[in-house]
Amino acid sequence: MKRNLISVLLIGTLFCSCSSRTSWQSYSGDKEIERKVDSVLSLMTLEEKIGQMTQFTSFGDITGPQVSEDIEPYLRKGLVGSIFNAVTTDGIRKLQDMALSESRLKIPVLFGYDVVHGFKTIFPMPLAESCSWDLERIEKSASIAAAETAAAGIKWTFAPMVDIARDPRWGRVMEGAGEDPYLGSRIAEARVRGFQGNSWQALKSPDKILACAKHFVAYGAAEAGRDYNIADVSERTLRDLYFPPFQAAHKAGVGTFMTAFNEISGVPCTASQYLFTDILRDEWNFNGFVVTDYTAINELVPHGVARDEKQAGELAAHAGVDMDMTGSVYLKHLKSSVEEGKVPVAVIDNAVRRILEMKFLLGLFDDPYAGLDPEREKNTILKPEFLQAAREMAARSAVLLKNENDLLPITKDKKCTIALIGPMVKNKESMNGEWAGQGNRQQSVSLFEGVTEKYERSNVRFLYAPGCDLTTDNEQGFAEALAVARQADIVLFAGGEDFNWSGEAACRTDIKLPGAQQALLKQLKKTGKPIVLILFNGRPLDLSWEDGNVNAILEAWYPGTMGGHAVADIIAGDYNPSGRLTLSFPRNVGQIPVYYNHKNTGRPASDDTYSDYRSFYLDEKNAPLYPFGYGLSYTTFEIGNMQLDKTEIKKGEPLAVTAEIRNTGDRDGEQVVQLYVRDIVGSVSRPVKELKRFAKIFLKKGEKQTIRFELDSDDLAFHDIDMRYTSEPGEFKIWIADSSDDERLEKTFRLIE
Ligand code: BGC
Repeated sequence: MKRNLISVLLIGTLFCSCSSRTSWQSYSGDKEIERKVDSVLSLMTLEEKIGQMTQFTSFGDITGPQVSEDIEPYLRKGLVGSIFNAVTTDGIRKLQDMALSESRLKIPVLFGYDVVHGFKTIFPMPLAESCSWDLERIEKSASIAAAETAAAGIKWTFAPMVDIARDPRWGRVMEGAGEDPYLGSRIAEARVRGFQGNSWQALKSPDKILACAKHFVAYGAAEAGRDYNIADVSERTLRDLYFPPFQAAHKAGVGTFMTAFNEISGVPCTASQYLFTDILRDEWNFNGFVVTDYTAINELVPHGVARDEKQAGELAAHAGVDMDMTGSVYLKHLKSSVEEGKVPVAVIDNAVRRILEMKFLLGLFDDPYAGLDPEREKNTILKPEFLQAAREMAARSAVLLKNENDLLPITKDKKCTIALIGPMVKNKESMNGEWAGQGNRQQSVSLFEGVTEKYERSNVRFLYAPGCDLTTDNEQGFAEALAVARQADIVLFAGGEDFNWSGEAACRTDIKLPGAQQALLKQLKKTGKPIVLILFNGRPLDLSWEDGNVNAILEAWYPGTMGGHAVADIIAGDYNPSGRLTLSFPRNVGQIPVYYNHKNTGRPASDDTYSDYRSFYLDEKNAPLYPFGYGLSYTTFEIGNMQLDKTEIKKGEPLAVTAEIRNTGDRDGEQVVQLYVRDIVGSVSRPVKELKRFAKIFLKKGEKQTIRFELDSDDLAFHDIDMRYTSEPGEFKIWIADSSDDERLEKTFRLIE
């Protein structure tokens, strides 16, 4: 991996993670493959071409060896380009056999599946992983997912989801990397590299799969945080905020893009020539193929931009959408549209070319079964080293939000009784969260199992009472829970959201702890026992009451298969938490959207400046409860001696920023050092702060190190008043910080012509 735009110099340190950009170029054509594609294309009938543009699914009835009757005749005629939701080696072999033995041209089927944070070994949900700020581990997590998926014969994942999101009501925030376009871009690259490998040649290897950047675009801008809702976003916001992670995925070589369900400014993305032709093909030179989201072409009718499905198909084809996911619109109508002259054959040929090209790049024409072998699958999935990696990732994804009087960790040498209370203590089902591939939910390690094993030969004793369930208001278990709490020294309350409460079509208007959980915590507080709250959930919650009333809070998210062990590692202090938030936690739902990289207004915002006409709330602060970049550790760090090597740079000239970091506590630990910039005056208004660099570093207790970041004018670029991507001369503020709200170390510099 080439670190070409940042250099981090850590004197005598163990370097953990830093921001970097990929050196891998996106696919730009290969003469030999083009020749092969053309020769296949020249043999194809129009119907067969449209078949390649068609993806089938079958809601699980092709997850076993049984083949759905709906698909079979199409497969035999060679009219199926791709199938998804077929997940067993037997089923896949049977389907591929059918396509190969009976169809005229024997074009292999491409099997796809939503492998979002693991296939069998489930890693923490993507938002959680982003909180690790650990690009190398994120890449590794994707590469393990790819190895398990490929071993099952599936060569395409509908991931990474790279939608920037600022609204925790939206259930799909769990799938992304949070609110920041810079961090989101670095994570997008890492995930693409993990799935696909470092070159087009790597795609053929038995443990790599094709990735898909989704959902293009601004799906995360859904109005009112309601899934599928409209996104009314300006072109500048698209370009400066929502496009960058997609561009990064593209530059890292992602082979496919998925359309988003939403409309932008009246045009549903799936019908948008602007997005899929002007931007993706003409401006970015993307050479892979575009798949719709599930039935998104059909949905152009209820969106009200097509009178029927036939017209919907024409709009999508003209927009540059190559493959129809499950909707069968292309299959049913595209032939007549071509015959009537409504869609040129060239549009079809181009789409099929792109799809076949990917099949060649994946090596499917040489080995359509992609090394499919049940024995290989058995030996690949859930390997001990995969499980260990999942455990380490889960520990690094958790964020310590509060830790009054160092209540945590509870080390094994303590003699105490802990009351384990709450609906997530023994819950295994929700640990994986949504989009959890083929992970066996009953195999996930619960918190109870994790802590019981961890404290096995110690003087820590556990009592247990669930107290309530995750979602209902039933208080029948309160009395038992309170009795248990009274016998203990510490209450460890494990709560959160049911896994179905986040993900697709799982939005909430009230983002407090659901059901009776907060009511139970209020009762527990009255016992006077110190309370540690461990949260398993899919979105930032409104934790205002909890922040003010419990003693410690650990946000463990949905941590995956090894979750219980990872959280036990943190509780016992065997791992010192290092996660930092990548999506702000609001104080209440009324603040949403609240995010660190907001704009100023013309009015003062601060809560302490006197003026009646401020940009503020009468009943709440402007700032979130826990901001982007925030997270605690069991040790403390001090950052100081920030230096710039110049106070003026010319375009293209580097600026070096150094600072010293010291671990001032009594434990080893990791700190995420963050570099933010503010462009003070622009031709258009600029965010009050933007993340530009970061590094996750490990420091032994008492250790001090110097960190060095390098920036240049490209890092200061944005879309100016004329929509040109450029940096503008002028003054900039720059901070080295431990969170987006940390302004202790501030300098200024100028960019000159
Ligand atoms: C989701 C996509 C997913 C697809 C296939 C859709 O409903 O929006 O993210 O890839 O289903 O499961």
